[in-house]
Amino acid sequence: TEAVKVGLLGVGTVGGGVLKTIRLQQQKLSERLGRPVEIVKALVRDPGKKRTVELDHDLITTRFEEVLKSDVDIVVEVMGGVEPAYEYVRALIEKGCHIVTANKELLARHGTELIQLANRHQVQLAYEASVAGGIPILGVLRQFLRTNDISSVSGILNGTTNFILTQMEQAKLPYHEALKQAQELGYAEADPSSDVEGWDALYKSYILAQLVFGEALPLNQARRRGIDSLHLGQLTLAHELGYRIKLLAQATKAEGGVQLSVSPTLLPLDHPLAQVQGADNAVQVSGNIVGDLLFMGKGAGELPTASAVVEDLAYLLTQRFSPHPLWRERQGNHGVGKEGTWS
Ligand code: NDP
Ligand code: HSE
Repeated sequence: TEAVKVGLLGVGTVGGGVLKTIRLQQQKLSERLGRPVEIVKALVRDPGKKRTVELDHDLITTRFEEVLKSDVDIVVEVMGGVEPAYEYVRALIEKGCHIVTANKELLARHGTELIQLANRHQVQLAYEASVAGGIPILGVLRQFLRTNDISSVSGILNGTTNFILTQMEQAKLPYHEALKQAQELGYAEADPSSDVEGWDALYKSYILAQLVFGEALPLNQARRRGIDSLHLGQLTLAHELGYRIKLLAQATKAEGGVQLSVSPTLLPLDHPLAQVQGADNAVQVSGNIVGDLLFMGKGAGELPTASAVVEDLAYLLTQRFSPHPLWRERQGNHGVGKEGTWS
């Protein structure tokens, strides 16, 4: 039987994890798909870089055109950033390739348009890994929470900042030392200001809001504060008073539309979200029928994120094409503009 031919855009933390997972779970994957999975091309910037995963040198390229002209069924975009990822994903969709991406910034800026493009070309665009790392929250919301009226989706959506806060509070590490560790562990974005200024959590809130409510107010109407101005003394004082500071992201249905906010928040020490440690994430969903639900798990890192990517890939390949149902067209161009404002 012919293998499923997969192209990779990026072999960094997540891309490396995807390769490892495909190898480790090879047998299960082939049984599920009825055919093996084969990596046919992998795009990187620096072909000489030492990687944590072995990859046949012939498969590596620095030229996107080589991926585009390869015979690929599906491409995993784990390079990050908006440009050139946006151009590449567009070109691949137009060629008829399915896409799996972990790139929340790309989706928050161009999700509506990419989904419409994918629908027109009858290919799937899957992005479970873009929100809350290994927690399969988008699949749950999309499949099993559609009949409830959801009033809010909130939680800890950024692993890097939760890791930093945990290390500062528990190991008394200075902010910059904790951030350096988060980078070394592969949790942080290439430009970590996206994490510490709250952008990353906001992109994820936007994606959740689109899925759950079919809308979100423009980003420039969101309240966004990061953890970059917090210092150890504030965390220690909060703890002495019986609280813990967490970076909370919220998408709430209100009168004028769906409000988004990201902000450091004081939580009583016995609050379930106050227990979330390290790079873990937690997503709280409130529905009128089901009540409150809490999903917790690894929100960043090589293998947890690869789990979401590979599960998405396998699920996508076992489904017939159907147009993306929930991210609604009526929202128009509410993506994030290039300068960080909604266009
Ligand atoms: P890395 O920086 O570790 O890896 C990025 C990879 O893409 C590298 O292999 C890099 O090449 C390649 N790359 C980047 N830009 C280009 C370019 N212009 N041309 C060719 N290759 C390029 O990032 P991560 O793996 O951490 O993240 C990837 C994506 O996944 C991002 O969108 C991120 O937001 C998302 N994500 C990350 C998570 C995590 O825990 N790290 C969790 C969930 C989502 P080279 O190796 O040569 O430098
Ligand atoms: N930088 C992101 C985080 C990666 O720390 O949560 C996971 O999306």
